[in-house]
Amino acid sequence: MIYRSWLRAEGFTAEVFDGRPVIGIANSWSELTPCNAHLRGVADAVKRGVWQAGGFPLEFPTMSLGESLMRPTAMLFRNLMAMEVEELLRANPLDAVVLLSGCDKTTPAMLMAAASVDLPTIMVTGGPMLNGRFRGTQVGSGTHVWRFEQEHAAGRMTQEDLLAAETGMARSCGHCMTMGTASTMACMAEALGMQLPESATWPAADSRRLRTAQQAGQRVVDLARSDLRPSRVMTRQAFENAIIINAGIGGSTNAVIHLLAIAGRLGVPLALDDFDLLARRVPTLVNLMPSGKYLMEDFCYAGGLPAVMRELAGFLHTGHVGVTGRTLADIIATAECWNREVIRPMADPLQPPGSGTAVLRGNLCPDGAVIKQSAASPHLLCHRGQALVFDSIEDYHRAAPDPHLDVQESTILVVRGAGPKGYPGMPEVGNFVLPTKLLERGVTDMVRISDARMSGTGYGTVVLHVAPEAAVAGPVALVQSGDWINLDVPTRTLTLDVGDDELARRLAAWSPPASPFTRGYAQLYVEHVQQASQGADLDFLAGASGAAVPRDNH
Ligand code: FES
Repeated sequence: MIYRSWLRAEGFTAEVFDGRPVIGIANSWSELTPCNAHLRGVADAVKRGVWQAGGFPLEFPTMSLGESLMRPTAMLFRNLMAMEVEELLRANPLDAVVLLSGCDKTTPAMLMAAASVDLPTIMVTGGPMLNGRFRGTQVGSGTHVWRFEQEHAAGRMTQEDLLAAETGMARSCGHCMTMGTASTMACMAEALGMQLPESATWPAADSRRLRTAQQAGQRVVDLARSDLRPSRVMTRQAFENAIIINAGIGGSTNAVIHLLAIAGRLGVPLALDDFDLLARRVPTLVNLMPSGKYLMEDFCYAGGLPAVMRELAGFLHTGHVGVTGRTLADIIATAECWNREVIRPMADPLQPPGSGTAVLRGNLCPDGAVIKQSAASPHLLCHRGQALVFDSIEDYHRAAPDPHLDVQESTILVVRGAGPKGYPGMPEVGNFVLPTKLLERGVTDMVRISDARMSGTGYGTVVLHVAPEAAVAGPVALVQSGDWINLDVPTRTLTLDVGDDELARRLAAWSPPASPFTRGYAQLYVEHVQQASQGADLDFLAGASGAAVPRDNH
């Protein structure tokens, strides 16, 4: 009686307690997360589907992570959101769940939670914004922010123009409409089989977004009665498919960290090097910013992810079964491409095989580093230069406008102290704007190296996720300005021309920087976060705990 009675206070009739599946709708709606601000409407559509199929839907709020507003970086809180959602799913009496996400970190955080609890789950991402438009041209969220800020810093764009551009860039609800991290992770959720086919690409403002949500509501009721749990959907084969598809779509480098973290929750063996090995044979087919020209609306109308997966079928495990209960082969059998400029054929790709995210090794990054080749300048992929080193991104920002800064076009800029523990939270600062004096000379790209991440909407010849990071005495902590560095992407190497003896001497004189975070979640994070090469999850969250509550007095 106690359980029923309090739910009666919400006005439900007795039928909802007749044993039908209880479907949680975990909603990361928040006005502080503009990309997710429309998700209440999406939840209503999911509820329609749940009622239709004979389930009992109950929507509840979760933590939300707004990439553009949160300080010091939304990534610091991905693991906190994953913990929160995990505990909500386990603590409440749910038979299955629909996850509503959108902005960058909300999708991986929810998938990590679902992986740990292992209740039957469908994800519905909120969809991208409509294409940005400014003065007759298409502008992409994020990508054009970096471009316009660079133009503004170089004095080629006025403040008034910047203000005019920002509204044209955000014309509707939804997440960033470039192939940034949010679009990438929406595609990864579909590639893993955790959301319905075509779900990744319907624009947030398109009525088909709500239709998909309603269908997810219908389907999840069937799932609740089946054993098709995340651990049976997100298998090693599913992760291999996701990595290959990420290469094909020119996806974000952040997918590397998030997929490693999700796999870690499931105990699926996945290593950083898998991303390079699996992607080497795969060309980039999708012509979207920041690697290409178009935006998510174009991708959707060209056929979306099923059309890409059909093109890549020869590389994929087509027998994989996702939340639809159908094989991938069955799903893509009828997929069609309607625009070959946007989704290129295998015979005429946007970028040749092996031009996606490369994993580098060498004495500067013994545990790996990544570079998104398709967003880099080809002439810089093999480059030898002298380092100019900054201990923090703030130090760099103070120095960058200095007209007397000792920097050349060939210099390799190194920013450290921006890794998971060091910042903390590994902010998206790896594609930092070039020094002002070089911008004014018309330089548009330089080799940049950091233990940070880069926004999926960013571009440039930027080496990211250097591991181990500087805060744990990785070799990047020992680089000095003037040292020679060799970047050779074709051989996947990043090396520092400094002998082992000298590095040992520098290490002996090195002391760890003090963390400004001495209490609360940030301290817990600093003490337990793993390196980027392991997915930057908290060490005690690896592995699944299941849906059972150890002590259940019900
Ligand atoms: Fe939310 Fe880009 S800021 S997806």
